[in-house]
Amino acid sequence: MSKPLIAVTRRLPPACEQRLANHYEARPGRDEGSFSREQLLAHGAGADGLIVTPAEVCDAGLINALPRSIKLISTVSVGYEHIDLDAARQRGLRVTNTPDVLTDATADIALLLLLGASRRATEGDRILREGRWPGLRPTFLLGNQITGKRLGILGMGRIGAAFARRAQACGMQVLYHNRKPAADSAGATYCGSLEYLLAQSDVLSLHAPLTPETKNILNAARLALLPQGAIVINTARGGLVDDDALIAALKSGQVGSAGLDVFAGEPQLHPGYLTLPNVMLLPHLGSATLETRTAMGMLAIDNVDAVIGGREPPHPVA
Ligand code: DGY
Repeated sequence: MSKPLIAVTRRLPPACEQRLANHYEARPGRDEGSFSREQLLAHGAGADGLIVTPAEVCDAGLINALPRSIKLISTVSVGYEHIDLDAARQRGLRVTNTPDVLTDATADIALLLLLGASRRATEGDRILREGRWPGLRPTFLLGNQITGKRLGILGMGRIGAAFARRAQACGMQVLYHNRKPAADSAGATYCGSLEYLLAQSDVLSLHAPLTPETKNILNAARLALLPQGAIVINTARGGLVDDDALIAALKSGQVGSAGLDVFAGEPQLHPGYLTLPNVMLLPHLGSATLETRTAMGMLAIDNVDAVIGGREPPHPVA
């Protein structure tokens, strides 16, 4: 009997590709370029399941055009804003994600950006590479101490809590805003009002999902509520931030520095960031460790195994 066909859009870590090859007829992914709708449909032709990433937009038009043979879309990510869940439900397609396993890696990247932005790491690196270091001077490239400062977390989920614990270990006080108090807040103080949280945040870190309600939530009016010179960290989704407003705030000094791992319209980013010295930029590396990406790929395959085997998947979102 022939094996089910699973189409994968992108290359996965070796152990995941090996597992797929052992159990399925696997149509491998490619890492160059983006997939047009036609290319995605052609890639999924005749498949029983599709494994995608946030780089592939699965909107209603695509979902409605997918071959009837496809039973699920398994995304190798915790975020699923790239998939139209209503359209999937209407088609009777299951959609699954890969939560939990990327919590520590993403919280680590938030800490890297916090330290990099507060201690001017990218400026220092550039000065060395360009041969512009004058030598040790007591007033050279002074940054901000994070010890004793207040960290505001917008979106206290698993990653927010893991970052809160890391920040507390660095001596920071942590506050957070969610629609309601979190089950695990890492001992951080709940702020029912986002505006109050912003006014208290020497550092603001974004950990909310991107939804119609959170799109551009960090806009000019809210940036103006931050203490002068605050630091902004984003490891969640670029769409949470109004880029023009953040760039203006970085130029005026209202925001002292920023650390950004995610961007609206990836892999493009607002060109205004590229010329600012006070921003540390990373290319969406939050979950990019071999261990974490392997665990994410394995979870995505667990979801495939369950749906193809007629069972409830471990991580359904639709
Ligand atoms: C996710 O899982 O949503 C991440 O952004 C991908 O690293």
